[in-house]
Amino acid sequence: MKIAIGCDHGGIALKEVILPLLSELGHEVNDQGTNSTLSVDYPHYAKAVCDLVADNTCDCGILICGTGLGMSMAANRNKKIRAALCTEMFSARMSREHNNANVLCLGARVTGPGLAEEIVRTWLTTDFAGDRHLRRIEMF
Ligand code: RB5
Repeated sequence: MKIAIGCDHGGIALKEVILPLLSELGHEVNDQGTNSTLSVDYPHYAKAVCDLVADNTCDCGILICGTGLGMSMAANRNKKIRAALCTEMFSARMSREHNNANVLCLGARVTGPGLAEEIVRTWLTTDFAGDRHLRRIEMF
């Protein structure tokens, strides 16, 4: 898959863990930054990634900030984006199965690297269940 990824200074340490995992899994990564620990504003990175997903340049996106909260709030302002902040495995699976999430948000100060890697693996390999869940996501 083509995956857009972005982070702010609070998320860069975790992005550096996730990037090699995505390559190892055979995905094509479009990294929208940031690429340093200098303080930046997360909405810019949320928009850059969400625009690539919304116009189908990328299949899905991953956004990482300190908590994942700001990124998820900013991402969900885009009507074509269903961004899910996941801090555990059940939500990672259900955000795909029931909500067809197209952007995964992670909090680098909340979720450790090992769990975050498992969340990413699960999120990328779980299919949308469709049916009644399609009707529901079409309501918003
Ligand atoms: C940056 O300090 C922090 O506010 C940001 O990474 C994020 O957690 C916002 O929601």
